[in-house]
Formats: sequence, C-alpha cells, structure tokens
Amino acid sequence: MKKILIVDGGPRLNMNTAALCDAFEEGARAASPDIDVARVRLYDLPPFRGCVSCLACKLKGRETGLCAVRDSLADTLRAVNEADGFVLASPIYFSEWTAVARAFLERLVFPWLHYTDFSCTAPKKMPLAWIYTMNAPESMMPGIRQHLSILEGAVARALGDPEPAFVEAHSTVQVKDYSRYAMDGLDPAAHLAWRDAHWDADLAAARAAGRRMAEKALAAKP
Ligand SMILES: Cc1cc2nc3c(=O)[nH]c(=O)nc-3n(C[C@H](O)[C@H](O)[C@H](O)COP(=O)(O)O)c2cc1C
Repeated sequence: MKKILIVDGGPRLNMNTAALCDAFEEGARAASPDIDVARVRLYDLPPFRGCVSCLACKLKGRETGLCAVRDSLADTLRAVNEADGFVLASPIYFSEWTAVARAFLERLVFPWLHYTDFSCTAPKKMPLAWIYTMNAPESMMPGIRQHLSILEGAVARALGDPEPAFVEAHSTVQVKDYSRYAMDGLDPAAHLAWRDAHWDADLAAARAAGRRMAEKALAAKP
C-alpha cells in the first residue's frame, strides 16, 4: 500500500480549495486499490506556530530532518516524511499561501535545509503536487509565482521530484451569493462566467494529477 498525504492549508470547508483536494483524492484512489489517501486540514489542528528558530534541527549529529518542536503539528510533519506522495493545497492570500500553510512549510522545510552545503533533502523521496485557488486570473500567475517559487523549489529538491504537479484554479467564485457582499470591484459576473466555463476542467485537472501521483508512487522503488 502506498500512502498519499494531502495537507489542506485552506480554512473553508466545501469551497474551492477543499473541492480540488476532493477531486485529487478521487483521482488518486481511482488509480489503484493499492493507494491510500490521508487528508489533514491544518485549520482543524489546535493552533501552532511557524519555525521558532530553536535550531535543534541543526545540532551536530541530531539532524533528523524533522522539526524538534512537539506540538499539534508534529504528527503531520512526521507523516509527510513517511508518505509516498505529498500534496499541499492552499488558497492564495496576498500572493502567498495562507499564514497557517506558510507556518507549516517553515516547520517542514527548515529541518531539511543543511547549513553545511545548503542542500535541501527530505528523509524520503516522493512525488509532489501543489494545489492553489485564487481570485486572480491566470495572467497574474507569473507575479504570484515569484512569491511562491523559492519554497516550491526547495520542497521539490528535497523530495526529489523535478516535475511536481501544479493544479491551479483562477478567478474562483469566492462567495456563494455576491449580492450580499461589497465586492463589486471583483466583477462577480466575470467570476461566475469563468466558473461556469472552467471549473469542471479544474476539477478534471485535479483528478488527473491525483491519478498521476498515484502512478508515480506505485512506480517508485519500495
Ligand atoms: C485574506 C485573503 C487574502 C486573499 N488574497 C488573494 C490574493 O492575493 N490573490 C488572489 O488571487 N486571491 C486572493 N484571495 C482570494 C482567495 O485566494 C480565493 O477566493 C480562493 O479561491 C479562496 O479559496 P477557498 O474558496 O478554498 O476558501 C484572498 C482571500 C482572502 C480571504
């Protein structure tokens, strides 16, 4: 059995990010009965902080690749290190991950980063996927990517996946009923039309990415 871990860094249940996680999971499970998918919603965990710079992960001879802080995030960090495929999902907030997903990434990646030769290595190699949803249209993605690319690159290098999957939903519908909110600047009609034209394809892309990750995980050496 191979295990894919989806970490959902979005706060909302049943909205855009969660729906793409559902589709990714569906695609992965459909690929093979030998695929198990675990989901963690970071907002469901008791509050945790980002890296506190204790530097315990840099103590000579004690570099375990795992954050030394024992709190509500510890089990999830360990689960990433033991998975066969890793997915991080987040809505885009101010051109980045949510603060909670960012805190999780600090705690995940800093123990992988070696201050000796500045390599970044996770204890285990595995396929990687990112799921993002955002108000911005696709044309704004290059600007947003500038904010994401340093950590995205570090995670890909650490996990040894030169071609991680990117599932991105743009111009998402942010609220179920725009008429109740002061959001006219967003051009709700354009978002609703984009959703009608593209959302099914976004879900299909998430399903396909899930299937591909499952295939990569199954093909990996035990
Ligand atoms: C605090 C906050 C900041 C946001 N910042 C951005 C942003 O910088 N760029 C963007 O495209 N969308 C931004 N959004 C919109 C969300 O990324 C978008 O609506 C997303 O699809 C929400 O995901 P969800 O439906 O899973 O909650 C922001 C939303 C919130 C609440």
